[in-house]
Amino acid sequence: MLKVLGIETSCDETAAAVVAVDQAGCGHILSNTIHSQIEDHAAFGGVVPEIAARAHIQLIDGVIQQALQEADVSAAEIDGIAATAGPGLIGGVIVGLMTAKAMAQALEKPLIAVNHLEGHALTARLTNQTAFPYLLLLVSGGHTQFLLVKGLGSYERLGTTIDDAIGEAFDKTAKMLGLPYPGGPSVETAAKKGDATRFPLPRPLLDRPGLDMSFAGLKTAVRTAALKEEPVNDQTVADLCASFQAAIADVIGKRTDRALGLFKERYPQTAPTIVVAGGVAANNAIRERLTEVALTHSATMVAPPHRLCTDNAAMIAWAGAEHLRAKAQANPDILSGNGNGDDMQVAPRPRWPLDQLSQSVFGSGRKGAKV
Ligand code: KG4
Ligand code: ZN
Repeated sequence: MLKVLGIETSCDETAAAVVAVDQAGCGHILSNTIHSQIEDHAAFGGVVPEIAARAHIQLIDGVIQQALQEADVSAAEIDGIAATAGPGLIGGVIVGLMTAKAMAQALEKPLIAVNHLEGHALTARLTNQTAFPYLLLLVSGGHTQFLLVKGLGSYERLGTTIDDAIGEAFDKTAKMLGLPYPGGPSVETAAKKGDATRFPLPRPLLDRPGLDMSFAGLKTAVRTAALKEEPVNDQTVADLCASFQAAIADVIGKRTDRALGLFKERYPQTAPTIVVAGGVAANNAIRERLTEVALTHSATMVAPPHRLCTDNAAMIAWAGAEHLRAKAQANPDILSGNGNGDDMQVAPRPRWPLDQLSQSVFGSGRKGAKV
C-alpha cells in the first residue's frame, strides 16, 4: 500500500486528503477534508482571489492535521506529498504547493506536483476503476473541455469552450437574475418551476464542425430577454432559468454525441466510456441528457459522486498516487528520500493546459496558454 497526502488550494476550497493505492492499483480514500470558503465570498457574488489566498494560509495547517488524524496515519507514515501546482488562482496555488514542498523537505518524502485538471480527469479511476482510454467531459466553474484520456499523463483535448466555462455561465446568469451564489444549484432549483419553452435561446456553434463550444452569447441572450420583461417576477426568473438550462443541455448533448462518435472512430475495439467531472456534473438536467446520449452509443457513463466531482483533495492525492506508483514501479528507490519526486524547484502555475500539444484557443499569453 502506498499512502499519499493530497493538498488542494487552487480556488475557494482548502482541502487535504489521504489516499492509499494497493498492489492491484485500486484506490482507497482514508480521509477527505474540505473547508469551503463559500461564506467568505458570498457577499461579493464570486470568489475574491486575495480573500481566498489569505484564508488558505489560515486554514491549511489545520486541514492537513485533520486529514492525517481522520486517516489515522502520522506524517511519517505518508509515502508522498501531492499538491495542486496549477492551474488556478495563483495566491492559493502558492500556499498549497509551498506547504507541500516544506513537508516533503522536512519529512524527506517525494513531492508530486499535480495538475488540477488531471485530478478531475483521473477521479473515475479512483471511484470506478475505469480503464484507459476513455472520453472525459470536464465541466466546472473554470473549465469546459472534452478530453481523450489515453493513459497516465497522456491527454488530448478534443474540444473546449472558446469563451465562458459552463459553471461560469451558470454563476453569471444567477447573479444577473438576483439568485444566490454559487449560481449553478440556484439556477437548477429555479428551473424546476419554469417553462423551458418560453424563451427560445440560442444554441451557439452547433452548426460548426468540431467539438468547440461557446456560452458567453447565451448569457447575453438571457440578459436581453430579461430586460424585455422588466419588472421580472419569480415566474419569469424560473422560465429564464429553465430555458437557459435546456439550451446548455442541448449543446452538451449534441457535442457529446459527436465526441462519442469520434472516440469510436479512434478506438473501434474499445467499449466506449464517457466520464463527466467537475462541479457542473451535479446538474441533473445535464446528467440525464448525457445518460440518454451514452445509451444511443452503447457507451458507459461514469459520474463520480458529487463530493468527488467538485474540487477536493482526494482527487489530487489519487493523481499523485497514480504517478508515484508508476515511478516506484520503474525505480523502487524513489520512496526513500525527497530528491526522487518532482523537482523541488517546480513553480506554481496560474495556467497549465493538460494537453500541452493542442493549440491554445485564446493564443498564448505572457503566462502561457489560457485554455
Ligand atoms: O469543480 P468546481 O467545484 O470548481 C471549479 O470550478 O473547479 O465547480 C464549481 C462550479 C460553479 O460554477 C457552480 O455554479 C457549478 O460548478 N455547479 C453547478 C451545479 N452545482 C455546482 N452548475 C449547474 N448545476 C448545478 N447543480
Ligand atoms: Zn476543479
